[in-house]
Amino acid sequence: MRALSSEPVERAVARLEELGRISDHPEFLTRSFLSPANLRAARLVGEWMAELGMEVEHAVDGTMRGMLAGTAPGAAPLLLGSHLDTVVDAGRFDGALGIVVALAAVEALRQEGRALPFPMHVLAFSDEEGSRFHTTYLGSRSLLGPLDAGTLSRRDEAGESLASVLRAEGWHEGAREMRYRSGETLGYVEVHIEQGRVLQEEGLAVASVSSIAGQSRLAVTLHGRADHAGTTPMGLRRDALGGAAACVLAAEELARAEEGAVVTVGKLKLHPDVSNTIPQRARLTVDLRHAVDAVRERLRGELERLFREVAEGRGLELEWEVVQESAAVPCDGRLREKMMEAVGSTTGRPFSMMSGAGHDAVALSARMPVAMLFVRCREGLSHHPDEYATPEDVEVGIMVLREFLLGLA
Ligand code: HGY
Ligand code: MN
Ligand code: MN
Repeated sequence: MRALSSEPVERAVARLEELGRISDHPEFLTRSFLSPANLRAARLVGEWMAELGMEVEHAVDGTMRGMLAGTAPGAAPLLLGSHLDTVVDAGRFDGALGIVVALAAVEALRQEGRALPFPMHVLAFSDEEGSRFHTTYLGSRSLLGPLDAGTLSRRDEAGESLASVLRAEGWHEGAREMRYRSGETLGYVEVHIEQGRVLQEEGLAVASVSSIAGQSRLAVTLHGRADHAGTTPMGLRRDALGGAAACVLAAEELARAEEGAVVTVGKLKLHPDVSNTIPQRARLTVDLRHAVDAVRERLRGELERLFREVAEGRGLELEWEVVQESAAVPCDGRLREKMMEAVGSTTGRPFSMMSGAGHDAVALSARMPVAMLFVRCREGLSHHPDEYATPEDVEVGIMVLREFLLGLA
């Protein structure tokens, strides 16, 4: 194991703090697709890339790319990176860690005067969480080709479609189309905070990721009837929120009964949303996951049946939409092996685990081999402002990535 000089590590830790202060909200961290803060963060990352001598460009959607040439003529690039967007009231590590660690590994190699044969493209994706459009991986999916019509027609809270948001709010000036075809890259490698408790329990700083669980994102709307809160007897109501509540509890019960299943209703919107009118409409999101695709698909079917039963029993109409689904993705055998070697030579304990969370690697796996490295997460807490990885663990992450890059070279 080779020690790193302290500057890249200190810089990475300071950069996580700096990115953590760039927010669209004065009280907590939030950056979403094409939001002002997300674009400010992208420009800052672009400056860091330029300082490393990278050729820097951005896409209309605010994805940033820094490219460093390799020494072998015509060699395919290796992609590194993660996402800049966050959930609402987020932690500072989810996404940002993978970008600053990639830049730190490039910096460490540069300080040592070691040029790699292959080009490195560091990517800071505009959207992975999907907080604005309830879709995921918008940034990384856009590297594969134009977004499909269904995705482009999705609407945000303000009722604007993704297509019109791209036209009106996109970063058009100097934008480049960034695309990768099959066979054009060595692959994509992402460092990410674990977001769970496995590494803490194992007493380990890092792990190579074996596979990434699939997920289903659903949008459900219940239509009832608005009516007067003071004059409508309980037996005559068609209360959309009452139905939504029953659906949430049914979903919870279903997931509790299935080992390894998780289901979350993270968003609920009511209309008319006033205290003295019976809710006419309730819209909710459902996020359903299981490591085994067939189980997730079966649970999705059961969920739909349960929700329809609730709606029928309460005189409500139900709209059921599958917004997005991704299958579980195995990390590439060869890249994984290299990552395990790097983890083993750096920490003395090669360890690998699966990811319950989704990552840009899922989208990119359609065109290239992918691998990931997890960094220990304090108490497993993520999508929370107290999300934390120690500077020591961040350093191990940088060391492993550096070893991995040298191993690949
Ligand atoms: O939702 C997820 O799994 C990830 O944090 N985007
Ligand atoms: Mn996240
Ligand atoms: Mn993430």
